Amino acid sequence: MTAGVGACRVRAGSAPLVLGIETSCDETGVGLVRDGVLLADTLASSVDEHARYGGVIPEIAARAHVEAMVPTVERALSQVGLRHRDVDAVAVTVGPGLAGALMVGVAAAKAYALALGVPLYGVHHLAAHIAVDTLEHGPLPGPSMALLVSGGHSSLLLVPDLATSDVVPLGATVDDAAGEAYDKVARLLGMPFPGGPPIDRAARDGSPTIAFPRAKATDGTFDFSFSGLKTAVARWVEARHRAGEPVPTADVAASFQEAVVDVLTAKSVAACRAHGVDTLVIGGGVAANSRLRALAATRCEAAGITLRVPRPGLCTDNGAMVAALGSLQVAAGVVPSPLEIPASSALSL
Ligand code: KG4
Ligand code: ZN
Repeated sequence: MTAGVGACRVRAGSAPLVLGIETSCDETGVGLVRDGVLLADTLASSVDEHARYGGVIPEIAARAHVEAMVPTVERALSQVGLRHRDVDAVAVTVGPGLAGALMVGVAAAKAYALALGVPLYGVHHLAAHIAVDTLEHGPLPGPSMALLVSGGHSSLLLVPDLATSDVVPLGATVDDAAGEAYDKVARLLGMPFPGGPPIDRAARDGSPTIAFPRAKATDGTFDFSFSGLKTAVARWVEARHRAGEPVPTADVAASFQEAVVDVLTAKSVAACRAHGVDTLVIGGGVAANSRLRALAATRCEAAGITLRVPRPGLCTDNGAMVAALGSLQVAAGVVPSPLEIPASSALSL
């Protein structure tokens, strides 16, 4: 495919309407954003189809995206009484994520951009998780610090300028992502997938009295490690089973959760201090966690750091975040992507 990508036909007097498409995992997300204002955010999820496998099955996710793509776009447009020809630019997650799932969204975005004669913006999934916060809290001051915690990533990023993708990775998980640890620990506690929400709920009735390890907490880096914690929880639960004693699920959930959020928040505050940054934004599915939000608020306040966290519904994967980043890129005059842009499952920042 060639041509057509630079021909943005922005109507006089109105800011560009950006259609955002997200298909990197199991959510088909579509968002409509105009000038930093969220107009529509529609979602179709295949999560129930994956639940019995305890994790996302790539082929099932890709097929579900194919079926949901057009209806989810139609729903977004009709919700706000807009038509295809009102769209001025299309933004799409090109990576990182599941290859087959990404390809569905990227192909759809190219088709919309080509058919409508509007520019295409291929965006990075993690940058979009940060950008979604601007829909609620306005422009992100530069530089800001971002903690990104999802099912596939746990990263600390210095963000001088999001729109131009000026993002500096400071550290990341060396093994399991935070959300992955939640999902695995939930499974061994007999809770459904995805494990974050049920652990979050169970922990409210428990006490964090079990001293689980906090790997890398004091190693001076901005990296994380959660696989040893997951193993420690598994060993603790197995020992209870062997002893024929009941497992205090709420206390295990609360103690596991405390170990995760303690390290995440301590390292985020340390990263802000080390780089002289006074704004922290938290994004990704785990940012919906109630204890992470509460502890981050307490520690940021004590450190004089302004904390920004999107509302829980915008933390997990959605199309609004892609449209938000697309909208920032359009406003900053970023050059659109060529229609040849590929889906890149291992895309780096
Ligand atoms: O960002 P996201 O929707 O998809 C990825 O890009 O991975 O994140 C999904 C992850 C899952 O591991 C899920 O268990 C976790 O976010 N999650 C939570 C909560 N809600 C979702 N983890 C902890 N507490 C929550 N309330
Ligand atoms: Zn995500």
